[in-house]
Amino acid sequence: MDINFFVEGTIHECKWGVYNNNCIEFMDKHLAPDSIDCIITSPPYLNKRAYSAEGKNEGNKGSYFYSSVGQAMENEIGCNQTLEEYLKSISSVLSLCYKILKPDRFLAININKYRDNKRTFDISHHFISLASSFGFQLRDIMIWIKENPRPVPPNSIHYYLDDGWEYILLFSKGTALLNDRISMTNHLNYTCPNCNTENSISLKIKPNYLKTYIGFTEKSSLKSYHPAKFPVALPDFIIKLCCKENYTVFDPFAGIGSTLIAALQNNANVIGCELNPTFFNSILKEIEKLSSI
Ligand SMILES: C[S@@+](CC[C@H](N)C(=O)[O-])C[C@H]1O[C@@H](n2cnc3c(N)ncnc32)[C@H](O)[C@@H]1O
Repeated sequence: MDINFFVEGTIHECKWGVYNNNCIEFMDKHLAPDSIDCIITSPPYLNKRAYSAEGKNEGNKGSYFYSSVGQAMENEIGCNQTLEEYLKSISSVLSLCYKILKPDRFLAININKYRDNKRTFDISHHFISLASSFGFQLRDIMIWIKENPRPVPPNSIHYYLDDGWEYILLFSKGTALLNDRISMTNHLNYTCPNCNTENSISLKIKPNYLKTYIGFTEKSSLKSYHPAKFPVALPDFIIKLCCKENYTVFDPFAGIGSTLIAALQNNANVIGCELNPTFFNSILKEIEKLSSI
């Protein structure tokens, strides 16, 4: 691809490419219609994080990030936007996702509730109606359960519980089919703890939730820091459900590259886009690390 801000390479016969700029411009100008096999992404939260606020490693002990929205980067989505402005940006992203996705393929979007001024707003219906208006069909609503949720700030403990789950909305363009789940089953030889009998049904079950620890506690030798990273296990779950060999997986909001790493580990080709140059450089280093394995 002959464009500025784009770095590409090959690793174990899989092609990768990462773009450091605005994903709307990238999808519009540089990705062909019907060229991508699967999109897995987590768009920026609305006014919850400033992704330009660099390197503040809060660990998991609760120095609260919730109110630290700062200066937005140019073209940054979600920071210092009204709900209306945010949904306008998300609408552009979703319409371009529909354009670049091949027919009969999946789009998976991880989003959370939005909390402000002691109220909780569920914005999933906005995503569902916008995506549907461009032609996507909602296939499933999966729940990502966070085993170690961040605690709510002390001044909010009488208003909210600790936020222990997020949505993964699974959309299809056309009649995409999920893969066989048998190889993903983690309850082989499951014995019921109540009645002690073998449970053969569980051999086939892959429920529509995923339980993991939250992403930023994952070890990275690069000590990459991202305030809203999801764990590699999340895109890995989607890839195993939705992708086939030689697929090209795209993440428009790549962060520090969790989707891209999961896809490369599953032998897929990957394309990512990330606005923040620090996170973009982390992606390049994570990919370089993979190539030495
Ligand atoms: C929720 S995070 C994604 C984290 C990612 N899933 C991971 O695990 O590392 C959203 C990302 O979108 C980036 N971003 C915000 N506006 C953008 C835009 N217009 N184009 C591309 N990236 C953008 C932010 O810098 C942030 O890293």
